[in-house]
Amino acid sequence: MSTHNHVGILGAGAMGAGIAQVAATHGWTVTLMDLNSEIVEKAVAGIGKRLDRMVEKGRLDQADAEVTSTRIRFGSRPQDIEDCSLLIEAVIEDLDAKAQALSPLVAAATDELIIATNTSSLSVTEIGQRLGAPERTCGMHFFNPAPIMKLVEIISGQQTDPLVTDRVATIADSWGKHVAKAADTPGFIVNRVARPYYLEAFRCLEDGLASVELIDDTMKSLGGFRMGPFELTDFIGHDVNTATTRTVWSQWKEPSRLMPSRMQEELVSSGQLGRKTGRGAYDYQGDSPIVALLPGKEAATIHAGELDPIQRFTQKASRGSDDPVQQIVFARILCALMNEALWAKADGVATEQDIDTAMKYGVNYPRGPFEWMADTGREYTAEAMKSLESMTAAGRFIPPA
Ligand SMILES: NC(=O)c1ccc[n+]([C@@H]2O[C@H](COP(=O)([O-])OP(=O)(O)OC[C@H]3O[C@@H](n4cnc5c(N)ncnc54)[C@H](O)[C@@H]3O)[C@@H](O)[C@H]2O)c1
Repeated sequence: MSTHNHVGILGAGAMGAGIAQVAATHGWTVTLMDLNSEIVEKAVAGIGKRLDRMVEKGRLDQADAEVTSTRIRFGSRPQDIEDCSLLIEAVIEDLDAKAQALSPLVAAATDELIIATNTSSLSVTEIGQRLGAPERTCGMHFFNPAPIMKLVEIISGQQTDPLVTDRVATIADSWGKHVAKAADTPGFIVNRVARPYYLEAFRCLEDGLASVELIDDTMKSLGGFRMGPFELTDFIGHDVNTATTRTVWSQWKEPSRLMPSRMQEELVSSGQLGRKTGRGAYDYQGDSPIVALLPGKEAATIHAGELDPIQRFTQKASRGSDDPVQQIVFARILCALMNEALWAKADGVATEQDIDTAMKYGVNYPRGPFEWMADTGREYTAEAMKSLESMTAAGRFIPPA
């Protein structure tokens, strides 16, 4: 095989194994590395099982599955990856661990090697600088599970050579992924722009506006989202979800839009983490989930005149509902998402098109926030945000200048 289709992957955990499967399925030779060979063997066995399941379901030929498996091999020394054009790092989320694990490999490699980190929350610029190779270090942020999720965010550090990100984008594309390019900023695109889907749902609940069930139902039936915010955060785990919120909120200097939810943090402190503990916003111990989290007591008051712009917005942006509570819930959550997308663009995170791509393929939104705004009409969106800001008075619906 030519040197151009051999990738080294450092870290054979959930992400490293998934990325190895993606690369091998698309014809690349993969050298998988971790602290020891047992971890890699376990990862390879897991990949084998997943490929077998694809064969059973008729999605992959037996022969292809076998060839794919033979493309993945174990590596432990720098020379095992000396002919690699790309090294992807998926080690635990710790800057020192990543730098220490990568350093000997980078030191022994040629100056041609592209280094791509799968970090979700560390600075790509800093990782590149620690390695003494900031111009050829970039982010290649896959989503979990990597073989299934269609998005890769390609992150440029402050000194990354644009040719490097272009090359990595071409590779991700050839691996069947949609690419969204983003600047090296906290949460990149998806982990930042998606925050209000969870946070505004919790704030609707805290405000006593609607129940968990009604909020989930509203986003699915009016908006076409696959999962409601509470079903989704129960699935993700409230500990994981609030940790990402805290990181993004603090790294972006604590804007009120991204402020953690009191109610969600109480779930975490009381150990109600979601599906994995049997209880979160819903209780999962019976045959079907039942609501376990009640709305806050502050009854929301709606002033005359505030509802009209929200109804106009909801009519344009959704599948429609006659229930004013559903209209407000829908407008609050969708406008909060749209506003975060506007801020992300204003902060130089990414283009409108890349933000739309990221949200459609990284979290399966039915439409990208900018497409949705264009379909709805920017003027309807702007007047709805104004009305929501006057209702909530919390600074969450003020778009960038
Ligand atoms: N899990 C997700 O949903 C997700 C999604 C996107 C990005 N990420 C990022 O991907 C990276 C890996 O996450 P994960 O979920 O696969 O973690 P994981 O814990 O499943 O795997 C991490 C692996 O790194 C290995 N490791 C630790 N120190 C090492 C060293 N010095 N040398 C080689 N290997 C070492 C561990 O043995 C382990 O196998 C993190 O940066 C994480 O933030 C995770």
